[in-house]
Amino acid sequence: TKVVYVEYDGSEHVIDVKPGYSVMEGAVKNNVPGIDGDCGGACACATCHVYVDEAWVQRAGVPTSMEEAMLEFAENVEPNSRLACQIKVTDTLDGLIVRLPESQH
Ligand code: FES
Repeated sequence: TKVVYVEYDGSEHVIDVKPGYSVMEGAVKNNVPGIDGDCGGACACATCHVYVDEAWVQRAGVPTSMEEAMLEFAENVEPNSRLACQIKVTDTLDGLIVRLPESQH
């Protein structure tokens, strides 16, 4: 499953992420800068904040209340903000585009 990570400066990283991994894990395992995943995906750090491309918001699903609570600790939260560790990569997300916030640049 291809996931496109777009850094704040516009650099794109197209990564093949195995279904079952999270969007955060896909970035960390492949050294995509800008997603730290400090808490290891426990929804407890907000260093994996991403903006989901508008075209993908619906397919990426809605954040849980726990995720929403943690997003309050992220900077410049937008309606399409998500925590990348809470998005599970599946076949239907092939081509998913996420942008990384300035604060993680
Ligand atoms: Fe910590 Fe996502 S990795 S909240």
